[in-house]
Amino acid sequence: MTEPVWQKSDSKIDARIMRFLAGDDVLLDREFFFHDITASKAHVEGLANISMLDAGEAAALKRELDLLADDFGSGAFVLDERFEDGHSAIEARLTERLGDTGRKVHTGRSRNDQVLVATRLWLKEKLSELQAHCKSAARVCLDRAASESLPLPGYTHLQRAVVSSTSMWWAGFAEAFIDDAWRARQTRGWIDANPLGTAAGYGVNLALDRDHTTRVLGFARMQVAANYAQLSRGKFEMAALEAIGSALLDVRRMAWDLSLFTTAEFNFVQVPDEYTTGSSIMPNKRNPDVIELLRASYASVAAARTEVEQLLSLPSGYQRDLQFSKGGICHGVHRGLLALELVPDLLARMKWNASVMRAAIEPSMHATDVAIEQAAQGVPFRDAYRAAAKAADAAGQGRTPEQSLAARTSPGAHADLRLDDLHKRLLALDAAPACPSV
Ligand code: ARG
Repeated sequence: MTEPVWQKSDSKIDARIMRFLAGDDVLLDREFFFHDITASKAHVEGLANISMLDAGEAAALKRELDLLADDFGSGAFVLDERFEDGHSAIEARLTERLGDTGRKVHTGRSRNDQVLVATRLWLKEKLSELQAHCKSAARVCLDRAASESLPLPGYTHLQRAVVSSTSMWWAGFAEAFIDDAWRARQTRGWIDANPLGTAAGYGVNLALDRDHTTRVLGFARMQVAANYAQLSRGKFEMAALEAIGSALLDVRRMAWDLSLFTTAEFNFVQVPDEYTTGSSIMPNKRNPDVIELLRASYASVAAARTEVEQLLSLPSGYQRDLQFSKGGICHGVHRGLLALELVPDLLARMKWNASVMRAAIEPSMHATDVAIEQAAQGVPFRDAYRAAAKAADAAGQGRTPEQSLAARTSPGAHADLRLDDLHKRLLALDAAPACPSV
């Protein structure tokens, strides 16, 4: 490992302790490295604006930072065990290339605000991806809700309950994914605050140009209080994981439906072949593994959130404990987004077996309609309910699922789905950002 940036001439370094301290930071910091470089460029500009760097020094630093990004992207520069972490690697490289000018880059900043700003930029990007996936999934659901209205048994407790429809199934998930997209957007707005320039958590004796770094890094606002920047580490990561988790909770329930509906016993749904796999021993099998892993993905996100929460039992100010939050965050965010990315196409291409679904609707499933019709005629509902219960099958005879669905006029039910409202809600996501700008 190169000499740590904090190394002073007389202290001894124990390799095992250094390994423990560094943990898997150089591996994890690869994830944030481009963002760390971007933020470093902004910091250099800020320093130049307050004359802590002259124009030549700032230009040289920015040029080397760009080259470092290129080399990292091409694999010519590898962030590995030679460095304690990504932040030290940047300084080491600038120093190697630019000597004293490189040694100036860390003026007025700390690795504490450096890690914060890099992860924050990364989180914002991931929340944008989350929003895009949720929007795509919602769009597929809305389109299919509008174009398909096949009768489908509606279940409660996994028991046949009332007549439902594919449009209602789709509309439900459409609204869920729209809410999830909004949550992604709101969370992104909520964390859209620049921590760079808070240094170790207490500011510095320089009039840093934080307005400039906030603007060029594309943050909606400055995270003003230096102490709060450190308090927000982990808290913001948890919020991002919660936003991803919210979408994956919906995916988990959707995947559950699909794993039931694709069984031979239900046989309501077929998913495209590439979403299934074969068995290594049973030649007859096609297994819905993708659906199962979609269902399982929530666990990784929830675990990551829990890990951050456990680490956050800390006093204010930077604490090294926080370093351990990065692994869970990377794993949880990646796994969550990988899962969500597959959802729109799977939903767009799954097929319903209309005749099987229709055959699964038995006459007794009209009993609730019958009771409510009686109530509409003036019979007290409880009496109508009892009468319909006694003759559930008889009451439903001769009725078709389509009749039941056509009469389901309560807002949000089959005959009044209000897909236009949902559509407007989806489009409104593209309107001006919903977050404070100061
Ligand atoms: N790797 C560290 C982290 O993720 C970077 C900050 C180190 N700061 C310090 N004061 N030791 O938290």
